[in-house]
Amino acid sequence: METKLGNQSNDDTAIWIEKYRPQSFSDIRGQKDIVKRVKAFIEAKNMPHLLFTGPAGTGKTSLSLVVARKLFGSNWRSNFLELNASDERGIDVVRVKVKDFARTRALGDVPFKIIYLDECDALTKEAQQALRRTMENYTKTCRFILSANYSSKIIDPIQSRCAMFKFKPLDQKDIISIIEKISTDEGLKIDESAKKALIEACGGDCRRLENILQSCAALGEAITEELVFSLASMAKPKEVAEFLNLAVENKFIEAKNKMLETMLNYGLSGLDIIRQIEREIWQLNIESRKKVALIDKCAEIEFRMVEGADEFLQLEALLAQFTVVSR
Ligand SMILES: Nc1ncnc2c1ncn2[C@@H]1O[C@H](COP(=O)(O)OP(=O)(O)O)[C@@H](O)[C@H]1O
Ligand SMILES: [Mg+2]
Repeated sequence: METKLGNQSNDDTAIWIEKYRPQSFSDIRGQKDIVKRVKAFIEAKNMPHLLFTGPAGTGKTSLSLVVARKLFGSNWRSNFLELNASDERGIDVVRVKVKDFARTRALGDVPFKIIYLDECDALTKEAQQALRRTMENYTKTCRFILSANYSSKIIDPIQSRCAMFKFKPLDQKDIISIIEKISTDEGLKIDESAKKALIEACGGDCRRLENILQSCAALGEAITEELVFSLASMAKPKEVAEFLNLAVENKFIEAKNKMLETMLNYGLSGLDIIRQIEREIWQLNIESRKKVALIDKCAEIEFRMVEGADEFLQLEALLAQFTVVSR
């Protein structure tokens, strides 16, 4: 499979997650210890298999591409294979592709090629066993970089064969620095409240950040808090707090109307809004014990929605709980 990654392009139609993909170690924000350790492997021109775990949009793929560029220089494309475990219709396809790729020696002075296997936690335990054998068979000619959201879903025999790195969601300071870099490069007009909204909306996921920012920019207007939340399919946290507070103050009908209005304004589904309600509970001015009870209710209502229950009825029932619990 041809790798589609790492094509840094400067034309205006480029998607920003590719245009702003880190090109070197110093471009990778956050993840300081990880970058330091990985850099040491590269300087030694030797590395073990690596396991990158952590949430989406935190730099797992990007760091792998930097590793390939640093190790192989301009030859990197012929020495780097990217596969997606969940795309490739099972481990057999992965095995065949690995075999073809691993048959020839690496070009240049590094004695191995790199195989980046994304979403390994989508593989069954049996498939992971097969992957482990494949890793062993090709250790002489290949290093694997495995990526997964959760290390707990990766079998022990694989974990113990890899150096493991846990990627964290980017913190506010790093998110801000990315927003500022892109805003300058693209000449965006963006105010402070819109930056805060982006931080809130992306939850430390840079891919989501860059996608929301690019959709905002495409409209060609100044970027505001309203625009960010509406393109992120989120209500303003303030508005959510407002209807929750009404419910807590025993103004149930007003709370319900405000909630419906908010959902219609931003085009939110029941599941969208319930995630935001859950977050806002912590800010309410009620006892912690009551907050905990309400979080529990949120989880129950969310489950019912996923199972197909009527969203509005469920949300009303949830709001009613805010009134009951706060009495
Ligand atoms: N740590 C980071 N520093 C800078 N940009 C990042 C970082 N993590 C992600 N990004 C941005 O988000 C995009 C997607 O990141 P990616 O490395 O594919 O995430 P992951 O593989 O962890 O899901 C990158 O192209 C880059 O623009
Ligand atoms: Mg990735």
